Amino acid sequence: MFGLFNKNKTFAPLATDMHCHLLPGVDDGSSNISETISCLKTLYSVGFKKIYFTPHFQAHYPNNEEDIKQRFAELKKTLEKEKIDDMPEVIDVAGEYRFDDKFARIPGVDNVLTLPGKRLLCEFSLHFNNFSPLSLFEEYIKMGYKLILAHPERYPYLNIHSEQIVKMKEMGIAFQVNILSLNGFYGESAMKKGFEYIEHNMSEYLGTDTHNMRYGKALQQTAENKQVQKILKNHKFQNSEI
Ligand SMILES: [Fe+2]
Repeated sequence: MFGLFNKNKTFAPLATDMHCHLLPGVDDGSSNISETISCLKTLYSVGFKKIYFTPHFQAHYPNNEEDIKQRFAELKKTLEKEKIDDMPEVIDVAGEYRFDDKFARIPGVDNVLTLPGKRLLCEFSLHFNNFSPLSLFEEYIKMGYKLILAHPERYPYLNIHSEQIVKMKEMGIAFQVNILSLNGFYGESAMKKGFEYIEHNMSEYLGTDTHNMRYGKALQQTAENKQVQKILKNHKFQNSEI
């Protein structure tokens, strides 16, 4: 029913996916190039034309920016040589940085891998922690970074009315809801909150956060979801500006 090459290009209005983990073997995402290619073809099948890879940068995956850039350049060369059809253009590599007490201590933060326009994708721990990111955010904003918080709907300790969320919006921090949240991939609560952020125009971006083909298949199912199709028709997102 959900063939790999379905024609439902639900996400074509977004054009760009700015959040996925498809650099083979660097984090909990794709483990090899053939998995990466299958995922990229799936992203294309649901309407994405441009892709940025965003590997994790956090204590659990202590990636190094120079190494990541080199791995990306090698992958890009391989993809170009293979001349694969029906695939989005893989534009560049950025990062998904976990803002927590450990990140605050990382030296040389001016070296961070950003999306175009100095857009910095960041996330929090999915489990409650006492770390307050606001002063760190302020530092980054002062340095000219445009912060994008990944999947605000997935943090069980935050909701649309949380003080921290309200403050972040006042600071001009953009949010990016995960598309799969809208189809219940992360459970009922994340789904409900995902729709809420969008309906309150508090999610400037949508991302797939694709890690592997389990996500790929879920993405194809989500492309068939009528409520999601309606969201894509009725709301404007800023993905295509990247
Ligand atoms: Fe992610």
